[in-house]
Amino acid sequence: MMELLERIKKTTYVLNEGSSSWSSPSNIAMIKYWGKYAHQIPANPSLSFTLDICKTETSIDFKPGNGQGISIDFLFEGKTNEQFELRVLKYLKSVTQFLPMLKDLHFSIKSSNTFPHSSGIASSASSMSALALNLSTIYNELAEEKLEKADFLRLSSFLARLASGSASRSVYGGFTVWGESEFFSGSSDLFAIPVENEGISPVFQDLCDDILIIEKGAKKVSSSAGHDLMHNHPFALKRFDIARERMGEIRDLMANGDMEGFGKLVEKEALMLHSMMMTSDPYFILFKPNTLSVIEKIWEFRREKGLPVFFTLDAGANVHLIYPSEIKEVVKEFVRDNMLVYCENARYLCDRIGTGPKNLNL
Ligand code: PMV
Repeated sequence: MMELLERIKKTTYVLNEGSSSWSSPSNIAMIKYWGKYAHQIPANPSLSFTLDICKTETSIDFKPGNGQGISIDFLFEGKTNEQFELRVLKYLKSVTQFLPMLKDLHFSIKSSNTFPHSSGIASSASSMSALALNLSTIYNELAEEKLEKADFLRLSSFLARLASGSASRSVYGGFTVWGESEFFSGSSDLFAIPVENEGISPVFQDLCDDILIIEKGAKKVSSSAGHDLMHNHPFALKRFDIARERMGEIRDLMANGDMEGFGKLVEKEALMLHSMMMTSDPYFILFKPNTLSVIEKIWEFRREKGLPVFFTLDAGANVHLIYPSEIKEVVKEFVRDNMLVYCENARYLCDRIGTGPKNLNL
């Protein structure tokens, strides 16, 4: 990575105007990232799969700036949004150290989501990966030396990570790993890597994720505040060790097609993530009574039907129902008859494992 960054920094470029547009999906972690060190270095490795439907579309028109550094205008879902604009500007300024050409440009950015933002669904993963992919495209448009696909994606993942850790994983489709792990060769704290399908039993290559919207409103504690609370957390070091070990466990379960073992590990991860929140200082709880009701119903359904339906949670109250697509019809019925009463306005999103971001200019 360092060699790639050096090359990028040294390349000459011609300032021009142009445009770039990407759609990038969110992802859902099976092994969770919770806790980080300076410069967005994760305290433990994580593994997720990239979604298909929940995504952000971001288009950027760029032109030479006014010579006074980077400048932007920003529309989120067609409207100005000062909070997002400031966050994006701060981020763009912070990455000029890697992409010096950015400081000579003005950006008109338009971004929109296909799902509710700040709902506990990782919208920062889709939005920040879409932004990062656009930056790599702009680099390739203006730089003398263009990046090949592998370097292009690695740079995008590196840049996405600096905006939001989990965003680094959305640059690839399928399963991805971010954070150095002895169980995944080539893994790194600096960027995510895709997990090759050869190592994954086919039953995992077609997973569904029904996102039950328990609460659409903004979450009370941001994930960056949550990560910070892992410093001085009494269980932090043990948690990080367990997560590291679980990377090996999940790799083996996926290689062996052990859906039952996989699902149970994924549930343990979700509950451990939330138990870290409940035992931090200050402590907090992000799930709601309906989250627990849904979990109980899932367990009951699994017991009665013997079908592989599992849950995971992000940093929020919503429940992700994870299951193989071959039982889609029976799960649909289960959700309709038993789950919707717990969802805000009976809302849920049917998503699945996806193939990754798309360049909308191609
Ligand atoms: O990428 P962040 O800083 O929003 O953190 C995401 C943390 C979790 O979603 C809870 C877990 C994960 O690995 O995605």
